[in-house]
Amino acid sequence: MAKVTVIGAGNVGATCANVLAFNKIADTVVMLDVKQGVAEGKAIDMMQTAQTLGFETTVLGVTNDYAATAGSDVVIVTSGIPRKPGMTREELIGTNAGIVKGVVSSCLQYSPQAIFIIISNPMDTMTYLTLKATGLPKNRVIGMGGTLDSSRFKYYLSQALKANPSEIEGIVIGGHGDTTMIPLKRLATYNGIPVSNFLAPDVLDKVVADTMVGGATLTALLGTSAWYAPGAAGAFVAASIINDYKRLIPCCVYLEGEYGQNDICIGVPAIIGRNGVSSIVDINLNEEEKSLFEKSAEAVRKTNDVLKEINAL
Ligand code: LAC
Repeated sequence: MAKVTVIGAGNVGATCANVLAFNKIADTVVMLDVKQGVAEGKAIDMMQTAQTLGFETTVLGVTNDYAATAGSDVVIVTSGIPRKPGMTREELIGTNAGIVKGVVSSCLQYSPQAIFIIISNPMDTMTYLTLKATGLPKNRVIGMGGTLDSSRFKYYLSQALKANPSEIEGIVIGGHGDTTMIPLKRLATYNGIPVSNFLAPDVLDKVVADTMVGGATLTALLGTSAWYAPGAAGAFVAASIINDYKRLIPCCVYLEGEYGQNDICIGVPAIIGRNGVSSIVDINLNEEEKSLFEKSAEAVRKTNDVLKEINAL
C-alpha cells in the first residue's frame, strides 16, 4: 500500500482523491490546496463516507502544509486554473506554469522518491516543465492526458456501437489538445473485432471528432473543465504504479527517439509500473497517423517554447 499526495483540492483533485480512497488504491491520501479549509473540508467529507462505502483509506486535507505530504510514493498535480468555455488548454500556460513549477519543487523536498502524475493544463507542456525544472529521470514524470482521452474515445465508440464501454478497446495518442489528439480509429476494437466492421467511415470520423473536443464539450456544458473522468484517469495511472500492474496506458511521457521524436513529452502507449514508465511501446503507425503525430508534436513543441518566453524554463 502506498501514500499518495494530490495537489489541488478542486473538482479534479477531490475526485481523484475520492477514487483513490473508494477503490482502496492508496492507504493514505493527502490533499493539499492553497485555499484555506477547502482540502480539510473535502477530506473530512470523504472520511465520513468511509463507513457507508467501506474503505479504510485515510484521507487528510491540508492548506499549503507540504510537510504533511512527506514520504509520498506518488504525487498527482491538478493545481492551476481550469479552462472556461471557449478557452483552449494552451491559454492556461502563463498562470499554470508558475503554479506547477512551485508545487513540484515543494513536493520533491518532502518526497524525493515520488513519481509525478501531471493533470494540470496544458498537460503535455506541464509534464515537460515538471521534467525539465526538476531534473527528474524520465520514468518518474507522467502526464495522464492519453488515459482520459482514450476513455472518452471508448465512450463515444460505445455510444455509436450501442455497446458496453468495457467491451471497447481503443487508444488516443499525441497531445492532449482539441486539435492535437489522435484517436487511433484503425486500432479500435469491439471485443477484438475492428470497429470498422460495425461503423461506417463517416460515423467513425464523427466519433474521432467528438473525442477530440470531448473536454471542450463538457466545459461548454459545465462552465468549467470536467472532473470525473480526469480525476479517475489520474487515479488509474496511480493504481498501475502502486500495484506494479504494468498496465499499457496511453499517457504523456518523454521521448528520446521513439516515434521519431526527441526532447518532448507527448502521448504514446507506455508500460506503467512501480518505477513509473518502465517502457514505451513504439507501435507501427501508418503514413496518415505518422503525419498526424508529427503535426501534433509540432504544436506541443510550440507550446513548450512559450515556457522559455515566460522564463518558466
Ligand atoms: C479535460 C481537461 C481536464 O480534458 O483537460 O477535461
